[in-house]
Amino acid sequence: MRILISFVLAAGLWAQGQRTAFEPGAVWPDTEGKPIQAHGGGILLHQGVYYWYGEDKTLGNFNRTGVAVYSSKDLLNWKRAGLALPKDGVPELFRESGVCERPKVLYNKRTKKFVMWMHLDDKPYAVASAGVAVSDTAVGPFRFEGYSRPVKFDFGYPEKDRANQKELGGTYRDMNLFLDDDGRAYAFYSSEDNWTMYVVRLNAEFTGPELPVVQGKTWQRIMVKDQREGPAPFKYKGKYYLFSSACTGWKPNRASYAVAENILGPWTVKGDPSVGPEAETTFRSQSTYVLPAPGKRKDAFIFMADRWNPEKLQDSRYVWLPFVVQPDDKIELKWADRWDWSVFQK
Ligand code: GAL
Repeated sequence: MRILISFVLAAGLWAQGQRTAFEPGAVWPDTEGKPIQAHGGGILLHQGVYYWYGEDKTLGNFNRTGVAVYSSKDLLNWKRAGLALPKDGVPELFRESGVCERPKVLYNKRTKKFVMWMHLDDKPYAVASAGVAVSDTAVGPFRFEGYSRPVKFDFGYPEKDRANQKELGGTYRDMNLFLDDDGRAYAFYSSEDNWTMYVVRLNAEFTGPELPVVQGKTWQRIMVKDQREGPAPFKYKGKYYLFSSACTGWKPNRASYAVAENILGPWTVKGDPSVGPEAETTFRSQSTYVLPAPGKRKDAFIFMADRWNPEKLQDSRYVWLPFVVQPDDKIELKWADRWDWSVFQK
C-alpha cells in the first residue's frame, strides 16, 4: 500500500512538472506551480532556449512589479528566471501608477546584446513612449537606456492633444518587434493616438529608429485610421503577416490580419482569421505575439494572446492556438481546449 501511495504521489509530481499539452485559457503554472506572470508577452529563441518576457501583474494593474522572464526548452514547461526589468529599472513616472506594457526582446548578433522595447506610459496614457533597455544576458537585469517617440509625422494634429504629438512625435502604445532574415529589426506600434499603425526600421544596434527617419524608406504608416492594437507580425515564404486587435481596452474584440510583400507596405487587410464560436471576440482574447512552431513544418505557427481579466489582472490567462498558413495567405484560427504538437502532423 505504502509503495502504491508513493508511486501515485511521484507520478502526480511528475505530471505536474511535465506538461505535454497546451490548455488555452486555463491557469498556466510555471515549474514551481505558480501561475505564469508574463502578460502582453513575447518570445525570444536563443541558443535552443525559449525566453518568455511579459508584464508581471502579481500586484495588479500598473507597473508595480516589472517585466518577468521565463525559460523553456519545449514551450510548455516554463521556469521563472525572475524579473528581467524590475519596476525600479524604469523612470519613476512609469512605476506604481504608470505602465510598462508589451515588452519584447531581440538578440542583436552584431553587438551581442539583448535589446528590450516596451510601451511606457503615465497614468493618463499621455506620455505614450517607447522604452529601450539592454542586457548582456537573456534574463537580465536589463539596463534602461531611455524613452522617446520614434517618429514625428504631421498626420493632421488634433487641436487639443493631451499627448502633444506635434512637439513630441506620434504616440507609441501597443507594440511588437520583428527581426527579419537580413538581420534588420522593426518596431510595429499603434501611433497617432491608436488610430494608425507604424512600422519603423531600427538602427544597427536595435536601440532606436534608423536615422534619418524617412517615410516609405525607413518607416511607414499602415492600416491608416483603422484603430488597431496588439500587433503580432511574422513572416512566411517571403511574405509578411500581421495579426492585430481592435481598440477596446481590456475588453476583447475581433481580430484581423494583413499581408504584405514588403514590410513597409502596402499591407492588404485580409479580415478576421477566427472561426467558430466566440470568433467575434478572438475567443475572448487579444493578440500579443506569433511564434513559428518548432519542428519541420515551416507553415506552422502559434498565435499567442491575452485573455485579460480587468477585475483581477493577475488572473488574466493566456490563449495560445496553433495555426498554419494555407494557400492564398488563408489563415484559420480555431479554438481548442487542449492541443499538442500532433496537430501539426495532420
Ligand atoms: C489595451 C492594450 C493593453 C493595455 C490596455 C489598458 O487596449 O492592448 O496593452 O494597454 O488597453 O487599458
